[in-house]
Amino acid sequence: MKLTDIYWFLRSDIAKIEKELEATIQAKHPILKQASTHLLKAGGKRIRPVFVLLAAKFGNYDLEKIKKVAVPLELIHTASLVHDDVIDEADLRRGKKTIKAKWDNRVAMYTGDYIFAIALDMITLFDNPKAHRTLSSAIYEMTIGEIEQIRYQYNWDQNLRIYLRRIKRKTALLIAMSCELGALVSEASNRDQQLLYSFGYNVGMAFQITDDILDFTGTEKELGKPAGSDLRQGNVTLPALYAMKKDPSIKEMIAVTVKQDEAELINMNSIITRIKESGGIEYSKSLSDKYLDRALASLEQLPDIQAKSALYEIAQYIGRRKF
Ligand code: IPE
Ligand code: IPE
Ligand code: MG
Ligand code: MG
Repeated sequence: MKLTDIYWFLRSDIAKIEKELEATIQAKHPILKQASTHLLKAGGKRIRPVFVLLAAKFGNYDLEKIKKVAVPLELIHTASLVHDDVIDEADLRRGKKTIKAKWDNRVAMYTGDYIFAIALDMITLFDNPKAHRTLSSAIYEMTIGEIEQIRYQYNWDQNLRIYLRRIKRKTALLIAMSCELGALVSEASNRDQQLLYSFGYNVGMAFQITDDILDFTGTEKELGKPAGSDLRQGNVTLPALYAMKKDPSIKEMIAVTVKQDEAELINMNSIITRIKESGGIEYSKSLSDKYLDRALASLEQLPDIQAKSALYEIAQYIGRRKF
């Protein structure tokens, strides 16, 4: 099943969110306008707003209110990608040139800031201090996650715990908060809010682990960027971590091949093959599945409504997604 088939019953609401997203980033400044529209129009799965909508179904569903949370969450995600592509020196995103590549790093910095600011402005329309705190902490945690990634770049000796802490911050918490805020805005019970948070957290962990697997197993066409980008950029993700620990000769090979400032020149094929042969992909898949099982255990405890089946399907989808 395709992702859009899973939440077909929300398609008109998603279309409204899409419209709102477009409307909110209409800057007066021409470059800010062009740059932010460029990335938004490039598409994206919009998975965070979808989580907000589905979580909101567990309370009093009112799209006008929900929009005030769903749009800022997608904006925060978008802004973080603009900055992430500067940090990762990435030239392609969603199959299109990144803002940093089409314009430059300075434009990307301010476009990201601009989009963050719009998100903060919009969340104030939802008059609830907890929502504001949640959103600020989402940005705060993501920033720490990204800077931790820089700290551990080209560090071939890091351990699993450091990796998990990093992906929690950079990805899982924002998805957890999307679920939690959807439930909060619709005034679902505290218990359901917590269950949805826990569902989102575990799905988010699986989502990033899967993303890290795809970086090794996907094609450039599927990924919208070249395969092996993470390692080429010195970012150590789970498949590589596992392979290096299991077989020190892989670590040696990576350490002599992958060097800062030579990223463009590296041919990743033989390294990717070694990592695949090490069982690193299967190991990563099994860890992702463990998180998905935990997500489903939280989901089980929620009331049986249509949104629950959709969340179930999305968790399944994450386990087998190709892009
Ligand atoms: C990309 O997120 C960055 C990660 C957290 C893995 P998505 O995979 O949700 O990106 P888009 O929005 O669909 O492009
Ligand atoms: C995801 O990090 C970006 C954030 C969560 C801020 P990655 O660097 O792993 O994601 P991609 O692969 O560029 O989408
Ligand atoms: Mg990146
Ligand atoms: Mg990154």
